[in-house]
Amino acid sequence: MKKKVKDITYKEIFKTLLKSVREYKREALLSMFFIVLEAVIECAMPFLMSNLIDTMQNSLTNEEMVRSVLIYSSILVVMAFASLACGILAGRMSATAGVGFASNLKEDLFKKINTFSFQNIDKFSVSSLVTRQNSDVWFVQMCFTMLIRICLRAPLMTIFSIVMAGILAPHLFWIYFITIPVLSLSLLAIALKAMPMFRGIFQKYDKLNESIEENVRGIRVVKTYVREEYEKEKFDTSSDNLAKNFIKAERLVALNSPIMQTVMYLSMFLIMMIGSSIIVKTTNIEGGIVVADLTVGNLSSLITYGAQILMSINMFSMIFVMFSMSIASMKRICEVLNEEPSIKNCDNPVTEMKNGEIEFKNVSFKYSANAEKFALEGVNLHIKPGQMVGIVGGTGSSKSTLVNLISRFYDTSDGEVLVDGINVKNYDLKVLRTNVSMVLQNNILFSGTIAENLRWGNKEATDEEIKEACDIAQASSFVDGFPGKYDMMIQQGGINVSGGQKQRLCIARAILKKPKVLILDDSTSAVDTKTDALIRKGLRETLPNTTKIIIAQRLNSVQDADFIVVMDDGKINGIGTHEELLKTNRIYQDIYEIQNRIGGK
Ligand SMILES: Nc1ncnc2c1ncn2[C@@H]1O[C@H](COP(=O)(O)OP(=O)(O)OP(=O)(O)O)[C@@H](O)[C@H]1O
Ligand SMILES: [Mg+2]
Repeated sequence: MKKKVKDITYKEIFKTLLKSVREYKREALLSMFFIVLEAVIECAMPFLMSNLIDTMQNSLTNEEMVRSVLIYSSILVVMAFASLACGILAGRMSATAGVGFASNLKEDLFKKINTFSFQNIDKFSVSSLVTRQNSDVWFVQMCFTMLIRICLRAPLMTIFSIVMAGILAPHLFWIYFITIPVLSLSLLAIALKAMPMFRGIFQKYDKLNESIEENVRGIRVVKTYVREEYEKEKFDTSSDNLAKNFIKAERLVALNSPIMQTVMYLSMFLIMMIGSSIIVKTTNIEGGIVVADLTVGNLSSLITYGAQILMSINMFSMIFVMFSMSIASMKRICEVLNEEPSIKNCDNPVTEMKNGEIEFKNVSFKYSANAEKFALEGVNLHIKPGQMVGIVGGTGSSKSTLVNLISRFYDTSDGEVLVDGINVKNYDLKVLRTNVSMVLQNNILFSGTIAENLRWGNKEATDEEIKEACDIAQASSFVDGFPGKYDMMIQQGGINVSGGQKQRLCIARAILKKPKVLILDDSTSAVDTKTDALIRKGLRETLPNTTKIIIAQRLNSVQDADFIVVMDDGKINGIGTHEELLKTNRIYQDIYEIQNRIGGK
């Protein structure tokens, strides 16, 4: 088991995945038990058939024959029903175990993804995480169900059948020495050739899935840029390509069946030919009883055992192909399950935040260890509790990056971010993120009522508190106009509210947390200037003790702040009030001039 699939061993893969079997272990084991029982019965039946045929042949009287036929057939009927019952029970158990295992696996993936930091999510990408949750889990479920059904049955059937065939007709045993290797080698050759083909197909399949998802999510942008035809062609090309490769691989695997049939009929032919000549040559009647090296009963059972051996070998090849098809999925699931969240609680974390005073001390930050450029470099900044601070700067100047470090969406590469004099790494994550409330630049609402969405901020919030938060965020006026008001359903992704309404609801949701620090990352960009000013006024008057950080593109969204930080290329270019910066800061002057010129026209 030391063999590696790139950087993870098979042993590690099994160990990780099997943890998700949990409460379904019983069903999986019971299923295996019934399968073993079924295999034992199926192997004993041809032996009894052989005895039945021989007894019929050797019966001296009709009554004796009828009696033995009755006895044997009753036993055979009971065995057939027992085998059927075992088969049904094994099927039910394995299906329950497979579905249960898959649902546990999905739950484990979901729980794990929820512990991920932004860095972890960046590493995998959202669509890849969704693919892993869906199609990869489905493949692993199929493989798991097949494994518990076949992993014991195939070897047991092979061994039992070989032993029984050996007992019944040792002189014909050599036939299996030809047919078993011929069939095994042919099926192995097919499986080995098909495996890399399937692996390639599934990698492309993942990419196709990811691109479908990206396209459907971004369907509005696709339409805006009239890219439907282009995207359709792109999809058709990759889909056709995939279909061609799939057909090639499937054609190869479809050879299994004719090869299997040929070898099976060939072995039956050999057994019949050689077996019947042995019967003819060696049969004597001694005292009314047929004596021969091989009986007719033995011959018929031998054919059945031969078929069972070859079918078991076919099962091996099927599981081999299935396994190789799902190993990539298993690995991709394990990658997520074994990923360490890059941001975790420290030991004995601080569980209270007092004032919301923020300090950046020589902070530098890179998005990944091997990134060439620092996204933030040498940042020093001090914000007193209750202050309202504006952050401005060109796109990509690292405004969002700067504030993301306060609530530990990312950890600094160098230097420290302190809240109330304590490094943010020493806070309990839940406490930190509850007290530092952030309206993200690309914020979303979830399906559910408006009230439910707002209660994400505080699940205990009363209707009055919700109304109050909406008043500050200038959201109550439009919510009151909605049918059902706070009970109106928001559709998935918040598509049934306008951009500006969504921003105001997101601000209300953040206010409901009653945070010590409130960060609005470009959160009023879709709101008109008058409403924007009213929101700021509301924040200043109703949340005087909350530290407020407002990132904005429009200078009039920040000009009444206590001070404004000008960002440029990951560094602080200037700090001061609106008037001070207008006198001293080149970038600020440029932004002001451009915005006033455009505004003045
Ligand atoms: N998740 C990420 N992974 C890698 N690089 C990133 C990531 N997010 C941002 N960056 C890079 O970091 C730099 C700063 O990005 P940031 O989003 O902080 O800019 P911003 O000032 O908020 O811009 P905008 O005004 O457009 O919102 C950019 O060069 C961007 O490409
Ligand atoms: Mg930004």
